[in-house]
Amino acid sequence: MTFRHATIERNVLLLMVLTLITVSIGGLVQIVPLFAVESTIERVDGVRPYSPLELAGRNIYIREGCYTCHSQQIRSFRDEAERYGHYSLAAESMYDHPFQWGSKRTGPDLARVGGKYSNEWHVAHLMDPRGVVPESIMPPYSFLQDRPLRGRDIAQHLKANRAVGVPYTDEMIASALVDLGAQANPDADASGLLARYPKAVVGDFDGNPRLLSEMDALVAYLQMLGTLVKFSDYSLKDLQQ
Ligand code: HEC
Repeated sequence: MTFRHATIERNVLLLMVLTLITVSIGGLVQIVPLFAVESTIERVDGVRPYSPLELAGRNIYIREGCYTCHSQQIRSFRDEAERYGHYSLAAESMYDHPFQWGSKRTGPDLARVGGKYSNEWHVAHLMDPRGVVPESIMPPYSFLQDRPLRGRDIAQHLKANRAVGVPYTDEMIASALVDLGAQANPDADASGLLARYPKAVVGDFDGNPRLLSEMDALVAYLQMLGTLVKFSDYSLKDLQQ
C-alpha cells in the first residue's frame, strides 16, 4: 500500500486525476442532497416582505451606507444574544436584496433595533447623534428631514424585488403608492396596508405631517427591524431542528 502511494505521489498527472476524483465525490455528497430539499431556509411565521415605506427606507439605508458601520446579523454567541436578543434566523433576511449580514460593527448591530427606541429618539439621533449619545462617532443625517421621499417609482421597486423572488402580489404592487402614503399618515385608513403587511408600524415618524420625507421612510424601516418573528412562540428546540 505504501509502495503504491509512493507511485501516486511521484506521478503528478496521476495525483491530479485522483485528487480531482476524490474532491468531486466529496462535493457531490455535499451538494446533491440539497437538490432534493425545497428550500434551505426554514419557514418562520411572521416573516413578510417589506411594506412600500419600509422598502423605501431600506433603499435610503443602503444609499447612505449605514451598512458600512452597522450589521444586521446577531450571531449565535452568548454575548451577542445577551446584548441584542435572539440570534438572527436565515428566514428573517430571506427577502433582503442585498442582505445586510456582517460582523463589521463600528456601530451596534441593528437586526433587532425595531421598537427599542421611540420615533422621536431616532429622529433626534439621526439629526445629531452626539446630541443624544455624546461619545458617538456616527455622522449626522439631518438633511433626510428636508428631503421629500420619492415615491413615484415605488411600484417598480416592488416589481424588481419580485423578479428576484420576493412574493409581492399584483395587489401589493397596484396599491404600493397608496400604502406608502397610508403608513406615514396616522389619519389615513390603514386597514388595507395592515392586511397586506401585518404588524406594519403606522405613524408620522419624523414629527412633520406636512412632508413625507426620507426621514419618515428610514425611521419606519428601523422600527420594524427584528419585530416580525415572535420568539416567545418558539422554543429553542423548534428553531434548532
Ligand atoms: C461612521 C459609522 C456610522 C455610520 C455611517 C452610521 N452609524 Fe449609526 N451608529 C454608529 C455608532 C458608533 C453608534 C453608537 C453610538 C450612538 O448611538 O450614536 C451608532 C448607533 C446607531 C443607532 C442606535 C443603535 C442602538 O441600538 O443603540 C441607530 C438606530 C443607528 N446608528 C442608525 C444608523 C443609520 C440609519 C445610519 C445611516 C443613515 C447610520 N446609523 C450610519 C456609527 C455609524
